[in-house]
Amino acid sequence: MMVRRSASLYVLLGGTLASLAGAASPLPLVIWHGLGDTFDNPGLQSVADLYTSIYPGASTHIIHLADDGGGDRKASYFGALHNQMDEVCTQLSSNPNLTSTLAPYGFHALGFSQGGLFMRGYVEACNLPKVHTLVTFGSPHNGISEFVKCKTTDWLCRTAFGWLNANKWSDWVQSNIVPAQYYRHPSPEEMQKYLESSGFLADINNERDEKNEKYRSNLGGLEGGLVLYKFDEDQVIIPKESVWFAEVVEDGQITWLTDRELYKQDWIGLKQLNAAGKLKFLKTGGPHMHITDELLKEVYTKYLWQPEGVVAQKVDGRKFNEKLMALAEPTIGDEREKYRGAAAQEPFLRVQH
Ligand SMILES: *[C@@H]1O[C@H](CO)[C@@H](O)[C@H](O)[C@H]1NC(C)=O
Repeated sequence: MMVRRSASLYVLLGGTLASLAGAASPLPLVIWHGLGDTFDNPGLQSVADLYTSIYPGASTHIIHLADDGGGDRKASYFGALHNQMDEVCTQLSSNPNLTSTLAPYGFHALGFSQGGLFMRGYVEACNLPKVHTLVTFGSPHNGISEFVKCKTTDWLCRTAFGWLNANKWSDWVQSNIVPAQYYRHPSPEEMQKYLESSGFLADINNERDEKNEKYRSNLGGLEGGLVLYKFDEDQVIIPKESVWFAEVVEDGQITWLTDRELYKQDWIGLKQLNAAGKLKFLKTGGPHMHITDELLKEVYTKYLWQPEGVVAQKVDGRKFNEKLMALAEPTIGDEREKYRGAAAQEPFLRVQH
């Protein structure tokens, strides 16, 4: 009797001490949404809720660049990305759930579409508090070389792209229109303008002569690595291989990351990550941002490392699909409907490149 009682007391104390030391707390999750989306979108909240149902007690945070949904949506089109990066740095560093000593391993981060590119920018330029593992879904890491059409009813989108199309390399556009700051076209004339004028991507990809060593060491040092999801039928990110840092020239030839200078000279730490087995190129079926609960569960349980003692809970087959389909796809109208039926029947491929 005595022995058993003290043994269970020991277990109890051990558990308490372990959680005080942070050993058994799940890592927090931070989400950065895409163009045209809002932080208060219930679809995004369901992405966060699925994480807490698998890892009870985990805290989650959805990045917002305004206090209300409308302002936040506007900030996904308008603003200077370097300022937005600073704002997010302040927002995350002032959140005790992310900075407390109970979160010694940092937090996991998910970025949807352009939000994944910006989350990577956060890792390179700030990373205090630090990211443990970054997963990006359909993010234009090598930029976009074409802009898709806005829906005729979406005036915010049309205003932004109107400015952009008028003169994408002007200083004003490069510090005020968000998608312009990751425009990148591989033709020699456009590349020259890009290196001279890009407000964000040329810098964060360390493509200019002067390299920022911090960008390389921060991203290369990501403990849990970088997971890059590509959507097979992506029609929003052009070219869709950009999400894997590939370059596509005009005749359709693809130069994969490992054959590019960005990688070979390790401008941003990707070679370091790859050498450590921490860079993953994954793909999934369907159009841009077609993310199912099954895919998220796989990401949460397979790629988002947890400290010893944290056990993933089984969750039932809740259907997030329809809500998630409403994420971050403001610019493409009719194509989505076409895929919705087909994609639902297809088994999703998740093949490592
Ligand atoms: C911290 O996490 C708790 C529980 O998950 C939550 O209620 C609270 O709002 C979070 N705090 C901040 C600043 O986000």
